Amino acid sequence: MTNKINIAVDGFSSCGKSTLAKQLAQYLQYIYLDTGAMYRTVTLFAMQNNIISPSHFNKNTLIKKLDEINISFKYNEQTKASDAYLNNENVENIIRSIEVSNLVSEISQIKQVRQKMVALQQEIAKNKGVVMDGRDIGTVVIPDAEIKLFMTASAEIRAQRRFDELTAKGEKVSYKEIFDNITKRDYLDQNREESPLIQANDAIVLDNSKYTIQEQFNFVLKLVNEKLSK
Ligand code: DC
Repeated sequence: MTNKINIAVDGFSSCGKSTLAKQLAQYLQYIYLDTGAMYRTVTLFAMQNNIISPSHFNKNTLIKKLDEINISFKYNEQTKASDAYLNNENVENIIRSIEVSNLVSEISQIKQVRQKMVALQQEIAKNKGVVMDGRDIGTVVIPDAEIKLFMTASAEIRAQRRFDELTAKGEKVSYKEIFDNITKRDYLDQNREESPLIQANDAIVLDNSKYTIQEQFNFVLKLVNEKLSK
């Protein structure tokens, strides 16, 4: 008998969802699934195939080519996290670039793209023992998740964190460019027709401007232990 649970972590862009989800998965020895990476990978495919650029988007071509996209994850011993692969090529770094971030909202609002991603995500979650982060995890992907978290933090704090992260990697970006990207994605994530970002009724809100990473982790761990002891 297994008493594994599923944990859904939803919330705005860059508010620490993946940090928390990774910590939890590592501690519990669960699978961690970064669903944003999947939408980013589809975006990269579309960019590489001239389907999307800042000045054009051929939605129907993308829909026709969806079967050519194979997304997988492989554990990276060095970073102790999973890397995203597009058709067997490691794309973990490039999918985090500002060019991909600027186009991902166009891609993630397409119904057919979402259907394909959600089916994959549900397949991975069906045996429990998964921590998944995204926007629609607690509402659409695994509405039966035993724990649902909804994370938030001010746009300024989120932009500063993302700026620090990207500049540390050597990317040439400005704080303003990142702030604008985050606030635009917040708006688009909340206002798109397909599976918009909304808080599930039974989600617990975590405003992570107020907690340290450790405090946040301890808080959630308590919730997990309560569920597992039932
Ligand atoms: O979590 P992230 O910033 O890497 O996600 C990238 C984009 O993908 C984000 O702007 C919204 C979209 N996304 C989504 O629509 N649904 C998800 N479950 C995860 C991400």
